[in-house]
Amino acid sequence: MSATARLPHPPSLASYHSGSNPLPLMPTTVFTIANQKGGVGKTTTAVHLAAALAEKKIPTLLVDLDPQANATSAIGVEKQEGRSLYGPLRGEGAAAEMIVATSSERLSLIPSEEDLGALEIELAGKENYLGRLRAVLQPVRASGQFRAIVIDCPPSMGMLSMNSLSAADHLLIALQCEYMALEGLGQILRNLERIKTAVNPELSLGGVVMTMFDMRTNLSRQVVEEVKNHLPDQIFKTVIPRTVRLSEAPSFGQTIFTYDNTSPGAAAYRGLAREVIERFGLAKK
Ligand SMILES: Nc1ncnc2c1ncn2[C@@H]1O[C@H](COP(=O)(O)OP(=O)(O)O)[C@@H](O)[C@H]1O
Ligand SMILES: [Mg+2]
Repeated sequence: MSATARLPHPPSLASYHSGSNPLPLMPTTVFTIANQKGGVGKTTTAVHLAAALAEKKIPTLLVDLDPQANATSAIGVEKQEGRSLYGPLRGEGAAAEMIVATSSERLSLIPSEEDLGALEIELAGKENYLGRLRAVLQPVRASGQFRAIVIDCPPSMGMLSMNSLSAADHLLIALQCEYMALEGLGQILRNLERIKTAVNPELSLGGVVMTMFDMRTNLSRQVVEEVKNHLPDQIFKTVIPRTVRLSEAPSFGQTIFTYDNTSPGAAAYRGLAREVIERFGLAKK
């Protein structure tokens, strides 16, 4: 078991609320990073956006909703049986009980485990099957413990990803700078509309993050230009470069901020976090 997995749960704000002058509760903004394609940089973006927000003093909860648990291990937390949203999403236990601290101050995690994958089938046809995650995260939102929640999704638009769209205020799309990138975009946007109509009218397309930008190729530049033309207001100015350091960090259970803090990948994700804070007013109380 890694050291971080043994850290205590982050303190609940309730403990600060004694006395006559209670702190105002923080509003919580929920982001989901979704794309049915695998290997496009969703997990890398979820982990580093969450870690960079925390570094900028924004209390943040990363929710690993991918049964592969890549975000959990990337952040240096060991998987534990029974510690994921599997139980809560089936109506057993509370999401708050699943929260663990990480080695970064202000960054907490709800880990994932393989069982989560069974929900793709188990939830089908059940009551409120698309709104389960929203309901399960509601008490965590209401606790005022976190200013931001970042959900990392599996590489499919199945039950888990659709639930994340229902639970979120903003969808952030990670899009790899590659040939045919725009093709996948259409499918995600159609799902966004479906969920907006069916369950979550508040959901918005919060932004598009271009990942794995390769400076040596024209293709990367062309893809960015094309997305800029389609979604000029949504595309983030910060483009994430393709760098080996970003792909190495997770195998050490580290984020780029501890693995190679001065690398271009670290600078890029800090830039993205700055834009997210600005765009969604996260620094405001
Ligand atoms: N900017 C990047 N530069 C280099 N490698 C990257 C970058 N972003 C992600 N990767 C690597 O690409 C692979 C897929 O990324 P990942 O974030 O896991 O995608 P997804 O969650 O969409 O499947 C991983 O091995 C990851 O380490
Ligand atoms: Mg992933």
